[in-house]
Amino acid sequence: MPVNNRLADALEDMTAWRRRLHETPELMYDLPETSAFVAGQLKAFGCDEVATGIGRSGVVGVIKGRGEGRVIALRADMDALPIREITGASYASKVPGVMHACGHDGHTTMLLGAAQHLADTRAFAGTAVVVFQPAEEGGAGGKAMLDDGLMERFGVEEVYGMHNLPGLPVGRFAMRPGPIMASADHVEITIEGKGSHAAKPNEGIDVVLTGAAIVTALQQVVSRNVDPLASGVVSITMFHAGEADNVLPPRAELTGTMRSLGAHIRQQLRDRVKEVAEAVGGAYGAKVSVKIVEGYPATVNHAAQTAFAQDVAEDVAGTANVDPMAPPLMAAEDFAYMLEARPGAYIFIGNGDSAGLHHPAYDFNDAALPLGASYWVRLVERALPLV
Ligand code: NI
Repeated sequence: MPVNNRLADALEDMTAWRRRLHETPELMYDLPETSAFVAGQLKAFGCDEVATGIGRSGVVGVIKGRGEGRVIALRADMDALPIREITGASYASKVPGVMHACGHDGHTTMLLGAAQHLADTRAFAGTAVVVFQPAEEGGAGGKAMLDDGLMERFGVEEVYGMHNLPGLPVGRFAMRPGPIMASADHVEITIEGKGSHAAKPNEGIDVVLTGAAIVTALQQVVSRNVDPLASGVVSITMFHAGEADNVLPPRAELTGTMRSLGAHIRQQLRDRVKEVAEAVGGAYGAKVSVKIVEGYPATVNHAAQTAFAQDVAEDVAGTANVDPMAPPLMAAEDFAYMLEARPGAYIFIGNGDSAGLHHPAYDFNDAALPLGASYWVRLVERALPLV
């Protein structure tokens, strides 16, 4: 089965929904228009149940097939980003400083297209649960939905996710078993020394120099402590200190991010960043405190469900258009929590030659809509076959 004909015909509708969502982006959990639109569509499609307010502003639709069977969840994200759009598109964001720069408008639309088709045709035995989550961009909205009992309440047995990928041609899919996206923890390092006149550094303890030494030393954690065949990133992204060119300040603050593809490296980064920062600070006579704020875990695909997702994608796009061993990305994704709760797979769908994710010129490629919606429909029909 290539792209589903009815979904190809629905391209005009889906494009209109996508552009409407694109014009009215909303942030984090604050999604009144988006969640109302999604819930309204699901009701209009004739879903058996539409639940709102799960994980604060998440929406869930339940579609029962013909006959008993397993329960499969499909998940999309709904939130936008605090970025000023520069696409110049006719349907560009009408909300200043907010835009759909990660394609969640497209993800929501593909899942709506699939929900409409599944509710119309019901060519499966079991239950499809369509999940629209808030706050993927750093707010752990997926975890909030889990904490609200998403899996138990709807009896979900497996869960699937999909994200668009710029640079991968439209018409292609990519996935891999095991880690596909990284964990991301946040680190804050406070350095306290002793301020002095810039001309008399011998009378103080220089926190700027100490901070520079810490930043340099932290770049050796990955190169000297992490297994060269494993993956880790430590990036110090903010360095705040001082207010005058003739004063050595008493305090500096460093902030950064630590990423990895597995629990072992994740713990190693946390331990070594703290040890190295404190030890280097000590060598300079400064007092260093390290605070680590836990972020998303790695997104780890389950082997059997990923092989199944590959089969489904090959059904839709053809074997030549599916990469089953795509390289993982060191960005993070809170679908990770859902894959910790239930077996499943997270895959990429090609967005073509667009600007990168989170770039102000990024735009979701509407040509991918029927492909993504067909993948969702086919996944349900194959996972829950009619006997
Ligand atoms: Ni995203």
